[in-house]
Amino acid sequence: LRSALRRSAAASYMSIRAFASPPGQQRKVAVLGAAGGIGQPLSLLMKLNPMVSHLSLYDIAGTPGVAADVSHVNTRSEVKGYAGEDQLGAALEGSDLVIIPAGVPRKPGMTRDDLFEINAGIVKSLCEAIAKYCPNALVNMISNPVNSTVPIAAEVFKSKGVYDERRLFGVTTLDVVRARTFYAGKANVNASDVDVPVIGGHAGITILPLFSQATPSANLSADEITALTKRTQDGGTEVVEAKAGKGSATLSMAYAGALFADACLKGLNGVPNVVECSFVQSTVTELPFFASKVKLGKNGVEEVLGFGPLSDYEKQGLEALKTELKSSIEKGVKWHANSK
Ligand code: NAD
Ligand code: LMR
Repeated sequence: LRSALRRSAAASYMSIRAFASPPGQQRKVAVLGAAGGIGQPLSLLMKLNPMVSHLSLYDIAGTPGVAADVSHVNTRSEVKGYAGEDQLGAALEGSDLVIIPAGVPRKPGMTRDDLFEINAGIVKSLCEAIAKYCPNALVNMISNPVNSTVPIAAEVFKSKGVYDERRLFGVTTLDVVRARTFYAGKANVNASDVDVPVIGGHAGITILPLFSQATPSANLSADEITALTKRTQDGGTEVVEAKAGKGSATLSMAYAGALFADACLKGLNGVPNVVECSFVQSTVTELPFFASKVKLGKNGVEEVLGFGPLSDYEKQGLEALKTELKSSIEKGVKWHANSK
């Protein structure tokens, strides 16, 4: 009975579509920024993932404690903590998947772009190390501004001769998670039954939820759709303001990051038809990077999927986001060119 209870508690704790595929292969996952607000709960959630055999927790400081703590959870993976730059190589070596929540978060009144200068440098140095120690790993970029940090990562990998567009992902899953939750509230359905694609990027109006494609479908008014869209776009700011100077979303981001990492691992392990939204190199629009549904496979992105038919409201949103998204992408590329 005790073991049945334990199994059902674990199952309901993670009552998400994830974590269902068999353990299979050895998979090493590294979390960079593992001692932070996102890093700690994300490390815990990755410890619960049966596909992970080795969990490598890296930060500039504090990771031995986080690793010791997380390592006592009785799941498959072996956990190791690494602190400081001289341990970064060992943390990364042999990784199949690297998740990056390293960097400063927003305070009230700031935009994600206000984080650019500090986080660009952090992302650049971490990606240089990835290029050196685990060039074939999938990279899940969480650090903001995602619309610029992903292009910076691409430039770093290109400059090191290891860029493969199939392996670089901007994590936009929190936008999907929010769109699902807010939609479920308005449509009066169970949030865990909802799906809503979110396209574009990860900042303000560049976040474009496609409620016209939401399932299960509901007859929401135009005003309701407008309010839901705005709330999804401002979801990060809602949390930043509620935390009143103590940072941005960490727990919901850890959940979203764990969902996306789980999908990447399933793809690597050959599970068919794994599809998630992500900000990736793309030809779906004229922009070089764009978030849309992506099919995940053994090499990362197997196919970048189009976004299907849009409502007139969504078409307007798509046109409206392009200028900002283009300039955020270009800002990242330009910064890298000048940073040498
Ligand atoms: P935090 O300050 O709590 O944690 C960041 C961690 O990064 C700290 O532990 C810090 O020591 C570490 N760090 C700093 N420089 C590093 C380096 N060079 N190498 C390794 N680690 C380093 O911040 P947080 O709340 O965890 O947020 C982290 C980032 O994630 C922020 O940029 C935030 O804006 C972003 N974020 C993105 C999303 C998204 O949807 N993509 C959601 C929430 C937050
Ligand atoms: C979010 O969407 O919660 C993150 O991008 C953090 C932020 O600054 O809003």
